[in-house]
Amino acid sequence: MSTVSDSVPVVIIGAGPAGLLLAHLLDLEGVESVLLEVRSAEYVMGRIRAGVLESSTVELLDGAGVGDRLRREGMEHRGIHLQWPEERHHLDFVDLVGRSVWIYGQTEVTKDLMQAREAAGQESHYEVSSVSLHGLESDRPSVRFVDSDGVRREIVARAVAGCDGFHGPSRPAIPDRVQQIWEHGYPYSWLGILADVAPSTDELIYAWHPDGFALHSMRSDAVSRLYLQVDADDDIANWSDDRIWTALATRLGDGQHGWHLTPGPVLDKGILPMRSFVATPMRHGRLFLAGDAAHVVPPTGAKGLNLAAADVALLSRALAEWLRDGRTELADAYSDTALRRVWRCTHFSWWMTNMLHRQGDDFDAQLQLAQLRWVARSDAAAAALAENYAGLPIGY
Ligand code: FAD
Ligand code: DHB
Repeated sequence: MSTVSDSVPVVIIGAGPAGLLLAHLLDLEGVESVLLEVRSAEYVMGRIRAGVLESSTVELLDGAGVGDRLRREGMEHRGIHLQWPEERHHLDFVDLVGRSVWIYGQTEVTKDLMQAREAAGQESHYEVSSVSLHGLESDRPSVRFVDSDGVRREIVARAVAGCDGFHGPSRPAIPDRVQQIWEHGYPYSWLGILADVAPSTDELIYAWHPDGFALHSMRSDAVSRLYLQVDADDDIANWSDDRIWTALATRLGDGQHGWHLTPGPVLDKGILPMRSFVATPMRHGRLFLAGDAAHVVPPTGAKGLNLAAADVALLSRALAEWLRDGRTELADAYSDTALRRVWRCTHFSWWMTNMLHRQGDDFDAQLQLAQLRWVARSDAAAAALAENYAGLPIGY
């Protein structure tokens, strides 16, 4: 079978938040790209994942002209509630660091960015297969794939953006001799549900409990998103809806100080593994990694999507200056610049995770509670959490 060949300045592999936002930002910079995605657009759009946008991500989406619906339909939160048995404390990020966060699902961000891509009229291929990367150390890297009609294609580019998530082919295309992997595992997972019921709280509740962590989040005035710490090897089949709601009620403190959790129909449920992972460097030759392709954080603290957005904000500027204006400084600095923020968020996510999940012995539990009380009672400690949660500047 013959291969159809083409060329474009940038091939972007993966149409998650990183790939879609990069495609849009490059378009605004006047740099053409082709976007490749293994899944269907409907599948990508329906994937229930992140829900919290930090202020820098909101500013970035606004600045890129894709923030209108978010401003209309999203929910601005001033902070979060931190809880442990018999105590609930509100941390007000606006008072502490002058920044808020927004609740707006990854599904909605994805929808807005897909519409922007369509409006830009640039080439996107969904449901591709057999994606492979070639010549990354040369001036003419290429990506080969089979499109949804079964046609073999090769696209020659000046740069390849690996935005294909943790399981994609981009990171493995970097030779072992130049790549270092930094990894940390956790002995628990999150069981997440989406529920067709109004949230029982105004802002998110992060709860420490002897039975394990619980989180009450939301997607809208009418839809709740909740999580429970479960064993790493637990099976969703062990968790009936009743068992989930009972555990949530216990851990979130139903009945304490007159507060109640309202259960409702479960629309979606699943168990998500937790890991911290960083691959360095984030550039090899003409391949640039961004988002989950280069790093994964445990979800506590809601950093994953925000980190992906920060990476591509840096990368779009770096590629535009290089490919359009011939200046290579930002592209040369991309990996080091992005990794500064990646490691900061990796630490924050690890810290939040360790503070809130039940693990170890009773001595460890007392240390966790001491830390929670400190964050709740010291403005300095609360501001440190708020500064990280509400989002550090993109180029931090
Ligand atoms: P992905 O979203 O994984 O996108 C990668 C894309 O590449 C996918 O569409 C994939 O299909 C595609 N792909 C894979 N292989 C190929 C291939 N061979 N060819 C072409 N395409 C390919 N983050 C937050 O900031 N806040 C939160 O509140 C939050 N909550 C979360 C809750 C859950 C349940 C989960 C699972 C994650 C959460 N995250 C959160 C993390 C966040 O969802 C991810 O960090 C984010 O999706 C990363 O975006 P990405 O574009 O880098 O990767
Ligand atoms: C959500 C996910 C998180 O990881 C988090 O820390 C807060 C909220 C969510 O999916 O709504």
